[in-house]
Amino acid sequence: MKREALKSEKPRLIDSFGRTINNLRISVTDRCNMRCTYCMPAEGMVFFDRAEVLTFEEIVQFVRVGASLGITDLRLTGGEPLVRRDLHILIQQLAGVEGIQDIGLTTNGILLAEQAQALYDAGLRRINVSVDSLDPEKFATITRRDVFHKVMAGLEAAERAGMSPIKVNTIAMRGFTEEEILGFAQMAREKPYEVRFIEYMPLGADDVWEAQKVLPQDEILERIHAVWPLAPVEEADSRAPADTFRFLDGKGKIGIIASVSHPFCDACDRVRLTADGKLRTCLFSITETDIKALLRSGATDGEIGDALVRAVWNKEPGHRINQPDFIKPARTMSAIGG
Ligand code: 5AD
Ligand code: SF4
Repeated sequence: MKREALKSEKPRLIDSFGRTINNLRISVTDRCNMRCTYCMPAEGMVFFDRAEVLTFEEIVQFVRVGASLGITDLRLTGGEPLVRRDLHILIQQLAGVEGIQDIGLTTNGILLAEQAQALYDAGLRRINVSVDSLDPEKFATITRRDVFHKVMAGLEAAERAGMSPIKVNTIAMRGFTEEEILGFAQMAREKPYEVRFIEYMPLGADDVWEAQKVLPQDEILERIHAVWPLAPVEEADSRAPADTFRFLDGKGKIGIIASVSHPFCDACDRVRLTADGKLRTCLFSITETDIKALLRSGATDGEIGDALVRAVWNKEPGHRINQPDFIKPARTMSAIGG
């Protein structure tokens, strides 16, 4: 309730379809210490020059402007956000911005064991860790790094530090994920993690996506339901794009982000800031607003706010993955921010 009251006092970021935007995803780097096959090529990935990447001061300035217009929730992403030096300091600074109520982090977990406590102390509670396989060898195949045990240690460190909620994100890819489903369901039942399957989307660097490679929500649910019956949950946390299901025997829940088979664009409440300072109103946007140019040319907060309001107003109705004229964005997921 308090949340609603707080929000309504502010001018709102509203798009031309009536959606209110209160969620900003911030990519803090396009670099990554994995090379997931569906995201990056094995070699030769070209990253932004460091000078192209927004500084902490620039990110905080933009967030201050956004918060004054109704942004309440932030999520830090990458590339891999924990390879950005001193990320906990940015979190501390963002937590201090008036109007920011919630900060989350999406990480691949490699560096989490080292950083979990510092992140917690900086104010981070909400964490998503990507784990695409529970088999160390398959994990190494898809991420091209032999680090499964580090990621598991990272998850445990997050738990020990007291982070909550802890979500485990796993890609839902035909020919890869089927044999992982029950293992992940078991993890959701035994550990204090919500496991979320994310339908494979057309965003990778190599042009390998095909509609048939998506493992859709209904199939994942059927396979779990046959072993451990599930029921849908009306989520109190409507921020999450996941459809949530609880196990009927009360042991935990799972989520599915069905971006391809059941798009949730109508309820979208987010925009994204890339590491190089471009504002994107959709993962699949084909246009961007150059926030960095404004920040670096001495624009006033008012001018930056106007650019944000305008970009939000022009937010596209939804992605067009299932349309014949779909255009894949020029950026990979790692350069957009997951
Ligand atoms: N489709 C679905 N999920 C993806 N991710 C990266 N690329 C894709 C894609 N093409 C996921 C990662 C991670 C999160 C940041 O986004 O696996 O969980
Ligand atoms: Fe790195 Fe994430 Fe891309 Fe994997 S999906 S290579 S962890 S940015």
